[in-house]
Amino acid sequence: MTVRRREFLRSAALSVAAFRTLRVVGAESPAKKYRTALVGCGWWGNNILREAMAAGASTIVGLCDVDRRALASTREKVKKDCGDEPKTYADYRDLLAKESPEIVIVGTPDHWHALPTIAAVAAGAHVYVEKPVGHTIGEGAAMVKAARAANRVVQVGTHRRISPHNVSAREFVQTGKLGKIGMVRTFVLYGGGGPEKPRKNVEPPAEVDWDFWCGPAPMRPFNGSPDNPWGGGIHPRGFRQYLDYANGTLGDWGVHWLDQVLWITGEKWPRKVFSTGGRPIKGPPVLTKDEQTSDAPDHQVATYEFDGMTVQWEHRGFAGNNAEKGENVGCYFYGTEGTLHVGWQKGWVFHPSDSKKPEVRCEAQLNLPDHQNIRELWADFLGAIREGRRPVCDIEEIHRATNLSLLGMLSMKLGRSVAWDGAKDQILNDPDANRLLRREYRGPWKYPEV
Ligand SMILES: NC(=O)c1ccc[n+]([C@@H]2O[C@H](COP(=O)([O-])OP(=O)(O)OC[C@H]3O[C@@H](n4cnc5c(N)ncnc54)[C@H](O)[C@@H]3O)[C@@H](O)[C@H]2O)c1
Repeated sequence: MTVRRREFLRSAALSVAAFRTLRVVGAESPAKKYRTALVGCGWWGNNILREAMAAGASTIVGLCDVDRRALASTREKVKKDCGDEPKTYADYRDLLAKESPEIVIVGTPDHWHALPTIAAVAAGAHVYVEKPVGHTIGEGAAMVKAARAANRVVQVGTHRRISPHNVSAREFVQTGKLGKIGMVRTFVLYGGGGPEKPRKNVEPPAEVDWDFWCGPAPMRPFNGSPDNPWGGGIHPRGFRQYLDYANGTLGDWGVHWLDQVLWITGEKWPRKVFSTGGRPIKGPPVLTKDEQTSDAPDHQVATYEFDGMTVQWEHRGFAGNNAEKGENVGCYFYGTEGTLHVGWQKGWVFHPSDSKKPEVRCEAQLNLPDHQNIRELWADFLGAIREGRRPVCDIEEIHRATNLSLLGMLSMKLGRSVAWDGAKDQILNDPDANRLLRREYRGPWKYPEV
């Protein structure tokens, strides 16, 4: 956890360049109302849209989804909540061309983050895109490049960077209260899982354009239940555990906690990554013309070797019980002065190494529903647009955090460790591993170039 002189000089040079670039964006009036659109009208997209409406700085001009049910229910909510009557679209390219939005929220599944974000900034919009930044590392690199080329603000939805207890945990660490940190353990443990029973493949509901939903990713058979269209299967929400569309729990939850490690310690990237895991409890993945299971691991560990510390990720989706006390998600920072658990709904707690000293605690301050801090992150997004500055969850920084998750997945797939050059977004001396930094897109979609 030491900033070397070379890196300091490089980041100082980057800050000067960033300052120059962002001055061009220019300051905008706080009274301005932004033409705002949402692409991906599911669970989290609606959570963000609600805060955008509540902030009072948006006119909602367009909604886009490939599921007409999500589109209709979101339009109804917008009309009820703020009186706007947005136009609805099945294709984000039509929305961008016809509505010329100034702000676009991207709340699609992970495999659909890159192309709409890149198209939106190229069309002149500022973007609030959900984590993880991309499904493969090359997508994230292309998104950073597109954001900088278009000189737009791109905020990523890692709201923990603005949650009051996470901010105070960072201050606690950065004022030296932990001493020297040698190790961090990040984890998400959700118990109760058993063998996964394959779900039947069925015709997608008439309201869903399944080909478009799969988009640049391979087209798997649809396996949601027509009787219960909002639960189970790949869509909605279940895509997280299907590796064609997402990257399992490490790609989903891991980004939040690994980002906390980078943000709190000031580290940028590890020099080496190794990960392993599997499905001993869920069982081998199934994919036939009749039925399928998910294919993400039911547990996984990943180790990140930094210059001055080791970071570990651990996910387990079974054996949930009270054997391990405390919160089931978060990160433990281990320092010479004690151990700090930074969690979610339970805030943070510091256990000093000197047992005569008292514990220190900080409660969480989260918004409902879903215990998040989107309101604060949206306010920062508007502030960045108005003031012409980088947002708290700037695309480049969360691209780095996303890379930690994606490198873990890549190492697990390869079955060996990889040495990482974060300055170049390249794996060292390993052409086979470097090929996995991107993937072939399903036509007609084209992989974004850096
Ligand atoms: N920051 C957080 O804490 C947080 C929490 C939850 C979800 N998320 C992220 O939000 C994203 C969405 O997750 P969700 O749980 O809301 O999923 P969801 O399935 O509820 O919603 C996704 C929506 O996108 C639509 N969609 C798919 N392809 C599309 C396309 N090409 N154009 C337009 N719409 C398309 C789907 O039909 C669906 O309605 C994920 O990337 C997830 O990681 C972030």
